[in-house]
Amino acid sequence: MKIFNNRTLLNSVIKEYKQTNKKIGFVPTMGALHHGHLFLIEQAKKKNDIVVVSIFVNPTQFNNKEDLENYPKTVENDIQMLKNVDCDILFIPSVEEIYHKKIVSKKFYFDGLENKMEGKFRLGHFDGVGTIVKTLFEIVAPNNAYFGEKDFQQLQIVKKLVKKHKLPISVKGCAIFREKDGLAMSSRNARLNNEQRNAAPFIYKVLKIAKKKFITENHDFVTKWVENQFENHSLLKLEYFTIAEEKSLETIKVKQFEKKYRAFIAVFAGNIRLIDNIQLKN
Ligand code: PAJ
Repeated sequence: MKIFNNRTLLNSVIKEYKQTNKKIGFVPTMGALHHGHLFLIEQAKKKNDIVVVSIFVNPTQFNNKEDLENYPKTVENDIQMLKNVDCDILFIPSVEEIYHKKIVSKKFYFDGLENKMEGKFRLGHFDGVGTIVKTLFEIVAPNNAYFGEKDFQQLQIVKKLVKKHKLPISVKGCAIFREKDGLAMSSRNARLNNEQRNAAPFIYKVLKIAKKKFITENHDFVTKWVENQFENHSLLKLEYFTIAEEKSLETIKVKQFEKKYRAFIAVFAGNIRLIDNIQLKN
């Protein structure tokens, strides 16, 4: 595996690969890799000649300083994991390499997708995501880029970014990879203490029951039911639960059978924020 810190160098190597018609698959990450990330890399390996993974904890997408400072960093372990899955190229730039001296994000308009759910509760988050993803896309110039449905809103926003800027990149969504007990894998899970870790699978349990209820009940009933489940929970605090249409991420008003819906949830375990989602059937 080749490791690059320099964007210009990486970009010229990619150009050489592309001149020989090699297909480039790209998996952007913030490191602290887990099997959810490896699953994306596996998908990329299947359809591309060269797989590039980036590790960059992007400061501009964190609305909370403490969350940024405490974001887990396990670089040596990450490099070993990437070697084990035959990743071809790792791009691991410094903050300065990406932002030079100005650590600020650009403003993006994603047709309103950026103001819902995660955007509402993490102000400026999607400007940060848009800034870093667009920059990384310019450097890596991939044919295909892989994103997890774990961050479903981010996936839709990246699709919108590519469409709006007419980038020649195909954005692929990959299913959520879960622990045996159902908890969605996340780098932040490493920060949970034992008690919180044992409580956290409750989030997916609730989502699965909500999915069943949504077949026969309306969204208000399901939303209230979910809110009740967390009302007196000693360890998990609900930030939001929303049922929204998949494409527009518009909160459902009246169930329309031709539309696809998804339930989205954000929960705090102490100061650790966990998100998850599930596709619904009408
Ligand atoms: P990060 O949280 O490291 O996630 C990198 C990619 O892995 C994202 O596309 C995310 O959706 C996916 N992913 C994480 N957990 C997953 C799981 N359990 N199952 C499937 N996919 C999973 O998302 C980011 O980093 C950043 O916002 C980034 C896109 C790199 C921009 O900074």
